[in-house]
Amino acid sequence: MENHIYTTFDKIKDRSAKEVYLKQKGKVLWFTGLSGSGKTTLASALEKRLFELNYFCQILDGDNVRSGINKNLRFTEEDRMENIRRIAEVSKLFMNCGIILICAFISPTNEMRQMAREIIGEEDFLEVFIDTPLEVCEQRDPKGLYKKARAGEIPNFTGVSAPFEIPTKPFMVVENTNPEIDETVREMLKRIIPEVRWDPSEIL
Ligand code: ADX
Repeated sequence: MENHIYTTFDKIKDRSAKEVYLKQKGKVLWFTGLSGSGKTTLASALEKRLFELNYFCQILDGDNVRSGINKNLRFTEEDRMENIRRIAEVSKLFMNCGIILICAFISPTNEMRQMAREIIGEEDFLEVFIDTPLEVCEQRDPKGLYKKARAGEIPNFTGVSAPFEIPTKPFMVVENTNPEIDETVREMLKRIIPEVRWDPSEIL
């Protein structure tokens, strides 16, 4: 069906020019993991460190996005897909400005993450599995949500009454049980910096 949409992507200054300007490569670091696994904590610690190293990042985070652009979505399988689809599209817009995205969403199924990967592009989608065991997340329970979910007060709660599928081939697995966050971030940077580093010789 004809939809009368005429895109103008070709008239917008291209990504590589913006990457040169920012002296970095636009990428999407896609954090996936249970609620309470430490996605947001690690995302902000990582952003802080990258910023100190002159990398320009933007965090997109579940609770924030769901209080804004996605406030009309709930936690059914269908709404979660739509949540992730919109986030992936928004991430792509940022990435095409040369920005490094740190996306922190439960994104519980392989299908959802695969959709995000396809929207963003295989090469630019770096899946980071924040691998904190359910028991640890439940014990931490920073928002008291596991307690409520166990009491039947929150339907479709990931890990309790809705599934979480372990990523099959993540770019990186972070076992987030070390209380020294800085150490974890340092290990992450070793893998991430080579992906976002801009090499001036590429434009010579
Ligand atoms: S996702 O599954 O669609 O990727 P998202 O990351 O956006 O989830 O939102 C997760 C946050 O929403 C959790 O950290 C938690 O604070 C809150 N939340 C509310 N209801 C649920 C639920 N049923 N399952 C998981 N998280 C929920």
